[in-house]
Amino acid sequence: MTTPRALTPDTIVAFLGDVVQRRGADSYLGEPVTIGQHMLQAAHLAEAEAAGEELVAAALLHDIGHYTGEFGEDYIEQGIDNQHDEAGAEVLERFFPPLVTECVRLHVAAKRFLCATDPSYFGKLSDASVKTLALQGGPMSAEEAAEFRRHPHFREAIRVRLWDEAAKEPEMTVAGFEHYTALLQQVVDRHCR
Ligand SMILES: [Fe+2]
Repeated sequence: MTTPRALTPDTIVAFLGDVVQRRGADSYLGEPVTIGQHMLQAAHLAEAEAAGEELVAAALLHDIGHYTGEFGEDYIEQGIDNQHDEAGAEVLERFFPPLVTECVRLHVAAKRFLCATDPSYFGKLSDASVKTLALQGGPMSAEEAAEFRRHPHFREAIRVRLWDEAAKEPEMTVAGFEHYTALLQQVVDRHCR
């Protein structure tokens, strides 16, 4: 098993695939899909909208930070947010461009933004997502929302969040991780070489 410290541009994609394969069957914080299904569904939805390769990568990897924290999934009950958005961006930033890592980093902030600015969005949140919202700081204030809007990857972060929200369908059939390995390697190679 490759340790994260030893990862290179040649091994990162296989490492990510290994993580998703080994850990993908984990339940997803009270959602009706596993975390692997959720990540693959988000990528599928991005691809279905003909999003660019970097956005498909961001959708696929947005929750990878759940595997880098030290807290188990009962952290919600304990009232601790594991900061999976920041952790995910940090493990990816050696290999992926800012569009990818910022969309990963901002996917929780994008939820807080949408709750503050789109009256219909809150109603679309799953029960589990409503529960985590409070731990994540609740809807943004007007000042926070204005600042978020100025982020260079604001629009892309919102798109990833909307795929994230829609990727919780127990019956959706989607391609496996291997469908995305060439795409991921291209994104890594463009960034690292
Ligand atoms: Fe997610």
